[in-house]
Parts: sequence; structure tokens; C-alpha cells
Amino acid sequence: MAKTKTAFFCQHCGSQYSKWQGQCTSCKQWNTIVEEVIQRPTKAGWDSQQPLSKKAAKPERIRDISAQQDRRLDTGNEELNRVLGGGLVGGSLVLLGGEPGIGKSTLMLQIALKIPFKTLYVSGEESAQQIKMRAERVHPDSENCFILTETKTQNIFRHISELQPDILVIDSIQTLQTDHIESSAGSISQIRECTSELIKFAKETHTPVILIGHITKDGNIAGPKILEHMVDTVLQFEGDRNHIYRILRAQKNRFGSTNELGIYEMQGSGLREVVNPSEILISKIDEGLSGTAIAATLEGMRPLMIEIQALVSTAVYGTPQRSTTGYNTKRLNMILAVLEKRAGFKLGAKDVFLNVTGGITVDDPAIDLAVVAAVLSSNVDITVDKGICFAAEIGLAGEVRPVTRIDQRITEAEKLGFSSIVISKQAKLGKTDHGIQVIRIAKVSDLVRHLFG
Ligand code: TYD
Ligand code: MG
Repeated sequence: MAKTKTAFFCQHCGSQYSKWQGQCTSCKQWNTIVEEVIQRPTKAGWDSQQPLSKKAAKPERIRDISAQQDRRLDTGNEELNRVLGGGLVGGSLVLLGGEPGIGKSTLMLQIALKIPFKTLYVSGEESAQQIKMRAERVHPDSENCFILTETKTQNIFRHISELQPDILVIDSIQTLQTDHIESSAGSISQIRECTSELIKFAKETHTPVILIGHITKDGNIAGPKILEHMVDTVLQFEGDRNHIYRILRAQKNRFGSTNELGIYEMQGSGLREVVNPSEILISKIDEGLSGTAIAATLEGMRPLMIEIQALVSTAVYGTPQRSTTGYNTKRLNMILAVLEKRAGFKLGAKDVFLNVTGGITVDDPAIDLAVVAAVLSSNVDITVDKGICFAAEIGLAGEVRPVTRIDQRITEAEKLGFSSIVISKQAKLGKTDHGIQVIRIAKVSDLVRHLFG
């Protein structure tokens, strides 16, 4: 078979080379040279039987195009449906990324087993027996799920034409290999070629394709960045492997909002959808512990109550340690500086540890006030009343700033049985008759007075 012609290009300056080298000789950048296809044999990848010319797109007047929503396939998994924006869109490519062991294969296999459509689960990572063993744990018995252990795209497409699945799952894109490129599986050019073959297949047959992708050490999906541009939806599966909760969020979604998120709990029998996340993120210990405070945060569109824990202790080494889990360390340093300057707390010689419980990472600035409350509570060793929660941002001048969607946060706090919520004095409330005491403060020093008298 005629091989594809490839060449090596610097991704930085565009210089072309006949073979790979570590440094680009013209722009002197390192590791920017990748193999790219410059000429492909005419019959490559997925080829539908019909000549393309009949199907080729024609210019259409925009007012003649029907705005009808694509029919969405219900995945049978509420959390995933919501993150996708209401289900899988026909012909769309979804890329699911996440760290090894986080549960990507488990999630997709679970969907494949449960969904009432014919699904082909292609695995290049595990044997059919391994998958069967996992399937027995999560959801034994399914009529519609087919397993194929294959990595060559040409073979996969051959099986697809026979089986005609409604949904295709690829585990993982990094293990696929096309005949048309010589480089090894997982290389940039292989990933790109295989993805474009799959896109062609998805768009021509209107079959949704879910790709599982590995991520690199720094948290990006392995392979060319262009992979994320090529697909319609990029989902990220995250969480701490040592914790049982997992969060699924959309980084990019052509068919829905990227604000939604799904929460799962990893159990012995697979991933369980967590319908009311706030309840699990707050510890059920009745007697108060100093150093904990509850924040009313929003993850996407969803209100979420999370517990912040702080430990402030005298530094044992010369330089005090500041360590955080699930929260930005720089932001903690800023808050400590504000507390020192604006509220007179001498925290400069203290070790401060901060933890967002449940192993999730939050970057909503509205948890600042809960961080302050937790730090102060640990510092003076006085508990924060369990019935209080917090939702406000802290500014550099020590001012307590309003945050978005405050009404939604208050409603969630009320629903979960909190007796009061501390917010910014400047917050504009949509409605004033909340069934929970709303405490408005203007400065961090007000909080000190409020919490500890
Ligand atoms: P896996 O889906 O293989 O992760 P990925 O494909 O993202 O690499 O997840 C495997 C982990 O999940 C593994 O450490 C075991 C755990 N697990 C459970 O706790 N319960 C289960 O029912 C299953 C199937 C896996
Ligand atoms: Mg896997």
C-alpha cells in the first residue's frame, strides 16, 4: 500500500525537516518538531460506500437551515447527560481525559453496558477478559454491548461496517494506529490521523464517538493540542485517586454549556452518580471542631456546600509552611497577608495548612470568606458554629466583596438546613425573604467580631 508522505515541522516557526531533531535550527526552540502528513494516499481511513460528491456540503441560505436540535441519545447516566448538555449528539466526537486510574474506562464501560443502543467498545488497553471482569462488577449482562480489542483503525472500521453500532467508544485514542503513517501509536501524527479518520466516520454516519484520552504530567490531554480543537466536546474526569469522589466537567462543548458538572462516587461496583453532592462534602460530625468552615460555592451552575479545613500551628522550621489541597496556595498567602495587615492577626510565624474536603479542587473566589473563617477558627481554637456558612470574596483591602448568584447559594444553604449565611454587605439580593438569617458584613474585621465576639 502506498505510504503517506510525511515531513517534520517545527511547531514554533514552521521550518521543515526531513528527519526529527531535538532543536529547531532556525528558531532554536527545543522539542517543537513533530511529524506531519503532507500527502495521503487517496483511499485513507473511513470510506463510506457512497461517493462523497453526493454528500458534499453545498452553500445554503442561513434562513433555510432548520434550527432543529439534533436528536440526543440519552446515555442513561444523568450526570453525564447534564455535562454533555442533554445527552450525546449524533455524529459528535467527545474526548474524555483524565489521570490514569481515575475511572475513565469504568465510566465508559458502565455507559456502554447500560445504554439501550448498540455500542461498540474498542479497547487497545485491556483484554476482552479483563473488560468482562470489570463489566461483571459494574453491570452484568447487556445485550447491546460489543467489545473489540483492536488498535488498527482500518480493522476497526471493517468491524464497524459489519456491526453498524449506534455508539462507538475508543479506549484510548493514544493506542490507535493507522496504516497510513509509520510512526508508533501514541505519537502526535498518529493521534491526529486516527482522530481525523474517526471524525470523518462520525460525521458521515452520524454515529457519536467517545474517545478516551490520556493526560500528561501537567494535566493536558496527551497529543497535539489540535486534538482538542478537532473534537466537539472535551470532558475532564478529575478527582483525587485516593478519594472516592470524581468530578466530570466539560472544558469545551459545542452543544452545551461548559458550566455543568457531574459528581460520581467510586464504589466497589463502579461509579455511582451523586445526586445531592452537598451532603457528602460536609462531614457529619456533630461536636464542633475548630478550623472548619462551610463555604457555599458554585460548581458550574450547581450550588455546592463544601467544607474548608485549616490548621494553624507554630512553625517548627524557620520558614513557615503554607500548604493547600484543593485551593490555590498563592491565594491563601494573599488572604493570610490581608488578615495580618487588616485584622491584626500575626500569622507570619505560623504554619498554615488548608484542605478542601472530599478531594475536590475549587477556584470559586466565593470560598475566600470560609477560608478566613477556618483559618481564624483554628488560630484561636474556637469552633465556628455548624449552622453558619459563608459566601464572599476577600479583597486586598480587607473588604468583603459580593459574589455571583448569591440567591442560589443562599437557597442551597437554606435547603440544607443552615441557620445563617455570611455574605458581603454590597451583595444585591434578588429576594429578601429567605428563610435563613443573612448576615451582611463589609470587612474581614467584622467577621472576627461576628464569629468570636
Ligand atoms: P479505570 O476505569 O481503569 O481508570 P482509567 O481508565 O481512567 O485509567 O479505573 C480503575 C480504578 O477504579 C481502579 O483503581 C479500581 C477502581 N475501581 C473501583 O474502585 N470499583 C470498580 O467497580 C471498578 C471497576 C474500578
Ligand atoms: Mg483505562
